[in-house]
Amino acid sequence: MKKLTVLSMIAASLLLTACGDSATGAEAKAATETKTEAPMKCGEGKCGAAGKCGGEKSATTEAKDAVTNAAEKVKAAAAQKATEAADAVKAKATEAVDSAKEAASSAADAVKEKAASAVDSAKAAAGSAAAAVASAVDTGAGKGLYAKCAGCHGADGKTKAMGKAPALAGQSAADLETNLKAYKAGTRNEHGMGMLMKGQVASMSDDDIKAISAYIAGL
Ligand code: HEC
Repeated sequence: MKKLTVLSMIAASLLLTACGDSATGAEAKAATETKTEAPMKCGEGKCGAAGKCGGEKSATTEAKDAVTNAAEKVKAAAAQKATEAADAVKAKATEAVDSAKEAASSAADAVKEKAASAVDSAKAAAGSAAAAVASAVDTGAGKGLYAKCAGCHGADGKTKAMGKAPALAGQSAADLETNLKAYKAGTRNEHGMGMLMKGQVASMSDDDIKAISAYIAGL
C-alpha cells in the first residue's frame, strides 16, 4: 500500500505541476526521474498544454502500473475471499454430510431393531405352529393306533375289556405307558390275560406307546 500511495502521489503531482515553476514541480521532476529514469524534457515555462509534455508518458505509465497493482491486489483479495467462502461451504457440506450420516445410521438401527423383533415374533409363531403340529401328529397317531383296541376297551375307553380289565378312560398317560410297556415286556398279567395284551402291543415302538397313552388319557 505504501508503494501505491507514493506512486499515486507522484502521478498526482506530475499531473498538477508537471509544467509549473515551483519547488513542487522540481520535486515531482526529481521523483519522476528517480522512478522512471526518463528525464523530463519539460523546461520552465516552455511547456505548453499538458499533452505536449514529455513527462506525461511516464506519468501515464506510473498511473497504469498503479492501476495494475491495485487490480492485482483486488484480484488477490477476491481470490482469498473466494477461498474462504469455498472453505466455509466445504465445512457446511461436511457438517451436512455428517448429520445425514448420523440420521441414516440411526434409521438403519431402527430398521435393524424392527427386523430383529419381527424375526423374533416370526420364530415364536413358527415355534408354536410346530408345537401345534407336533401335538396334532401325536394325537392323530395315538387315535389311529387305538382303533384296534376299541373293540375290547370301547371307543370311549370305558368298556371293561372281556369283563376283566378296568376302564382305561380316566387313567394317566404315565400309568398307561408303564402298564403297556410291562405287557410288551411280558411282565404284567393282572387277570390272566397278560399274554393277550402282550400280543396287542408287541409290535408297538416306545413312541407308539407314548402316543396311544396320551390319546387314551384324553378320552
Ligand atoms: C381282545 C381284547 C383286547 C384288545 C383288542 C385290547 N385289550 Fe387291553 N386288555 C384286555 C384284557 C383282557 C386286559 C386285562 C389283561 C390282564 O390280565 O392284565 C387288558 C388290559 C389292558 C390294560 C391294562 C388296564 C389296567 O388298568 O390294568 C391296558 C392299559 C390296555 N389293555 C390297553 C390296551 C390297548 C392300548 C390296546 C390296543 C393296542 C388294547 N388294550 C387292546 C383286552 C384287550
